[in-house]
Amino acid sequence: MEQFDFDEIIARRGSGSYKWDMPERGDVLPMWVADMDFMTAPCVIEALHRRVSHGVFGYTKVGDDYYDALTRWFSRRHGWHIDRNDVIYTSGVVPAISAIIKGLAAPGDKVIVQTPVYNCFFSSIRNNGCEICECPLDYHADGSYAIDFEALEQCASHPRATMLLLCNPHNPAGRVWTRDELRRIGEICLRHNVTVVADEIHCELTFNGFRFTPYATLGEEFAEKCVCCNSPSKAFNTAGLQIANIVCRDAGMRRRIDRAINDNEVCDVNPFGVTGLIAAYNEGEDWLCQLIDYLYGNYRFASERFASELPDYTVTPLEGTYLLWLNVSASGLDGAAFASRLEKEARVMLSPGDIYGAAGSAFVRVNLAAPRSVVAEGVERIISFARSLSAK
Ligand SMILES: Cc1ncc(COP(=O)(O)O)c(C=O)c1O
Repeated sequence: MEQFDFDEIIARRGSGSYKWDMPERGDVLPMWVADMDFMTAPCVIEALHRRVSHGVFGYTKVGDDYYDALTRWFSRRHGWHIDRNDVIYTSGVVPAISAIIKGLAAPGDKVIVQTPVYNCFFSSIRNNGCEICECPLDYHADGSYAIDFEALEQCASHPRATMLLLCNPHNPAGRVWTRDELRRIGEICLRHNVTVVADEIHCELTFNGFRFTPYATLGEEFAEKCVCCNSPSKAFNTAGLQIANIVCRDAGMRRRIDRAINDNEVCDVNPFGVTGLIAAYNEGEDWLCQLIDYLYGNYRFASERFASELPDYTVTPLEGTYLLWLNVSASGLDGAAFASRLEKEARVMLSPGDIYGAAGSAFVRVNLAAPRSVVAEGVERIISFARSLSAK
């Protein structure tokens, strides 16, 4: 099998990269926004080259080859048999979620989120006139997270609660929810007539021993009352190509989502997103498997360094994703102050945990999707900075 090189350092500063070109100073190591510093799979690059060579980039018709690639991938890798008629494509998972809320919830409805959770969930809920209902996950002493089912039942039983935004696998809690956990979530939501909207963008990035369960495969009654969102963008590092899919079996709900997609003017996608998705799903599996092993190596490396050098800082065990969740309360600072001072004093940019809800305020999120030498540099800077705080 071809071996792929994830150690190669690719200069991204000055390439119009949100991650690398946002920090004001040029010597800041960015370990914040969730994209990777690796080239995407060679098969994707080659397919894009071919598409560029064609030279005409007019409006895009999404053809059978797109739906074939998508449905075959999910069927083969995840045992989820998607009917292509249930699919609505759009320009990203965030636009998808926003349109789903707009289409299915009424202003003033409560949308449940399991915090700490991906920050754009909050803005999508607010932007559509709905209210956020924070249902914090249970945090254990070893840093791991679980679902507080009683709290979830309580949130779901509120008469205005109509939707749960589920993050599976969970960013930033690092959990790949088990089938059993998902069923219990689903049973609560069915009991209270709450629609489950599953953001499954991180579904490919699961480590050995942890298996992603597509929410829609839990059973008929669950599949009928859910909407799932996915994209190859996290796994193949193609977020800039802007393509995602909504899968919704219920024709009535699908019509309302489709209406909202059109109202929001996000019904057109670009030719590179389509080409990239087809290549990734048809030919990218070997690359992806090696990427996952590499990311796991980065996670092991970083978590071992933190455990040995900063034993009072708790690292959340990761079952998937490349986003390490670090409890910095031992520093005496909250996550926002820690991140802000770290950037100024040690030149590493992290995501402060409070943007993921109040439950995240003692944390920072560290993006580990970079060549190991870069991760090592960032981790050592974080360790030195944390030590300098305790020395004062
Ligand atoms: C859970 C989750 N959903 C959605 C997104 C972004 O999706 P998109 O770039 O397709 O809008 C991210 C990016 O980090 C994410 O973590």
